[in-house]
Amino acid sequence: MGTFADKLIAWQKLHGRHDLPWQTKPNQPRDPYAIWVSEIMLQQTQVAAVIGYYARFMRRFPDIASLAKATEEEVLQYWSGLGYYSRARNLHLAATTVMDLHHGVFPSDFSAIQSLSGIGRSTAAAIAAFAFNQKQTILDGNVKRVLTRHFLIEGWPGAPAIEKKLWILAESLLPANEIQTYTQGLMDLGATLCTRRNPKCEACPLNKTCAAFAQLRVNDLPTAKPRKVIPEKNTTMLVFRCGNEVMLEKRPSSGIWGGLWSFPEMNALQHIEGPQLEIEIQKHFGYEVLSSQTLPKLTHTFTHFKLHIQPQLVYTLQNHLYKDNAHLWLSLEDAMGAAIPTPVRKILSTFQS
Ligand code: ADE
Ligand code: SF4
Repeated sequence: MGTFADKLIAWQKLHGRHDLPWQTKPNQPRDPYAIWVSEIMLQQTQVAAVIGYYARFMRRFPDIASLAKATEEEVLQYWSGLGYYSRARNLHLAATTVMDLHHGVFPSDFSAIQSLSGIGRSTAAAIAAFAFNQKQTILDGNVKRVLTRHFLIEGWPGAPAIEKKLWILAESLLPANEIQTYTQGLMDLGATLCTRRNPKCEACPLNKTCAAFAQLRVNDLPTAKPRKVIPEKNTTMLVFRCGNEVMLEKRPSSGIWGGLWSFPEMNALQHIEGPQLEIEIQKHFGYEVLSSQTLPKLTHTFTHFKLHIQPQLVYTLQNHLYKDNAHLWLSLEDAMGAAIPTPVRKILSTFQS
């Protein structure tokens, strides 16, 4: 039989994931920096989406010093498309903190790890366990799902009272040894068997003690967040084009896509069409408009709202008016290589023939 941890550890060794790029072989030294980068990328992002980004990021920024020395612009460029860009800005900021405060050595002290930008309690625990073999518990969305099911804990796990209970429970389950295998096992079980939909309970090493499984309540847990309708917003993006070049505008460093390059937005244009649209654009931007074309709409879903984007292609005669640092005219190819959010990439890719 064994305890919760014993069963999980035995299962991880046989059926867990062992070949992820940030994993090292047992007994090989682990690079805290590499683990840190991977854990930040893996926050709210699936392994499959992370793998390519991780490889490119580590090739360009192989250690803390190289990351700290880089510009935020370049770090964002390597994050472009991965989403949740505050992760990249925090990672960059934290690298400079490690250089200044810890002589360039990633700290092993748990509260020092947790005080770095972008590292919450669960991420700090994953790094402490994987990099320094410390007995700390993770509690991310996957782990919350496993625990609420196995111990039949009702109530939305994001609610402070439920979350507190889960932290205490998670800590009480930690094994005396093999914290790394245990931690990886929790992640692997949540990602491969105890999935949100269609969990594979028949194959689960915990199915003999799982309360939700015994009571046929697996699909009721974890309790859903009380539903608020998520707001929807509309925007018009102006894609100024002159020859093979398009204009990008740097977004303010706070707010969505902070610090990324995007197209200028003009919400006032939403209900205007035809020649009047071109007159308004010309008035506002000073570019002489040759012609314009309404491109297909696209929708981008954020955690907190949906953004409906109406791209408006605008052919202009000029590509030189803006001389500030917040605007750039770039070839399509260079624009695709810049730090741009996903919808901008999608719009640009419709131009490539
Ligand atoms: N999700 C978060 N951290 C992870 C890791 N180290 N391996 C696999 N999935 C993860
Ligand atoms: Fe999750 Fe099913 Fe295993 Fe319970 S038995 S922990 S619900 S996979």
